[in-house]
Amino acid sequence: MIRVNENFKALSENYLFSEIARRVSVYKKMNPDAEVISLGIGDVTEPLCDSVVEAIHKATDEMADRSTFHGYAPECGYDFLKSTILENDYLKRGIFLSNEEIFINDGAKSSLGHFGDILSADNIVAVSDPVYPVYIDTNVMEGRAGKLLPNGQWSNIVYLDCPREKEFAAQLPERRADVIYLCSPNNPTGSVLNRDQLTEWVKYAKSHKSIILFDSAYEAYISDQSIPKSIYEIEGAKEVAVEFRSFSKTAGFTGVRCGYTIVPKELVAYDNNGSAVSLNALWHRHQSTKFNGTAYIVQRAAEAVYTPQGKEQTSSTIAYYMNNAKTILEGLKYAGFRAYGGVNAPYIWLEIPYNMTSWAFFDKLLNECQIVGTPGIGFGPSGEGYFRLTAFANSNNVTKAIDRIKNWNI
Ligand code: MLT
Repeated sequence: MIRVNENFKALSENYLFSEIARRVSVYKKMNPDAEVISLGIGDVTEPLCDSVVEAIHKATDEMADRSTFHGYAPECGYDFLKSTILENDYLKRGIFLSNEEIFINDGAKSSLGHFGDILSADNIVAVSDPVYPVYIDTNVMEGRAGKLLPNGQWSNIVYLDCPREKEFAAQLPERRADVIYLCSPNNPTGSVLNRDQLTEWVKYAKSHKSIILFDSAYEAYISDQSIPKSIYEIEGAKEVAVEFRSFSKTAGFTGVRCGYTIVPKELVAYDNNGSAVSLNALWHRHQSTKFNGTAYIVQRAAEAVYTPQGKEQTSSTIAYYMNNAKTILEGLKYAGFRAYGGVNAPYIWLEIPYNMTSWAFFDKLLNECQIVGTPGIGFGPSGEGYFRLTAFANSNNVTKAIDRIKNWNI
């Protein structure tokens, strides 16, 4: 008799954004004339920049010609893209890495989700609360989370406090944690970890022989020069951290799919005998077994992001979204909400008034303003009472949405 992975039964029926899409689709069916504005899932709306489109056309032509055709891509990425990334995103910031330490993939989500495959199922996992749901859901799937408790927490997960008074920065845990997910700029709160805070985390990881899985998918949105874009800006981080990055939000690749993971050679985990094992070697083994490489056309597209024109064009799109963030943040404050984030991140995190639950607020905002956002509870128990709006939207729609909120008799 075929048996299921029981861990899946412990998960909620739908992934957060699938549930939102389901509710919005029901609403639209019942209100076909409503002009619904989505500030829910963080999905880009602006087209690919010209440099990327040209590179895609050129690579497509190469694929159409026998003499320049490409079959399977190297599982861990073409050297042309790896070298370009390392030179621009790391070397220019004084970080030295080799091509063997970077793994090109189809976006941060899948590598974040799969990374647990190479770590023991009995590691203690820590996540900030609230948090991007992929970190928890994938650990539930792998049997690392324990049981769902009545307070919405998983029994084996260490939840890191992210107090409002400390600008939602993840605080060091009282219990030991082996695997620590950090996300800066943060999804969903829009907060960032500064150099001192990251240094504390690196120190913690070193002294506890833990690993930090550092999600910096939104680093391109950091405008404050003092905030690290990479965890490897912190001394010693290569010994304790993996970094996940994506072209999705940096260059509008949500529908193209490309990202990369850095697994430094210095990074080790321990086997049952206490001997150190290279995580770089294990991740290489994982990727070459389970992944057949990101498409050549896509990797050429990603390479084009780093040309002088590509940089200029992607920066202007980022500025466009950050202008939306400013409109949302200022508009919410004008309307009387307490709102956070939106300065070094494309997400705005607002406090829900009148003790309403975040799903109740979701329904009210959709029904009364025809605006879709993301309920804070979807990011973890401490997200209750909060709500996330995204700056990834058409700017006219953002203006319209904020006008509706300003005129809303909540
Ligand atoms: C979000 O809205 O949190 C993101 O778009 C989800 C993702 O990047 O997978």
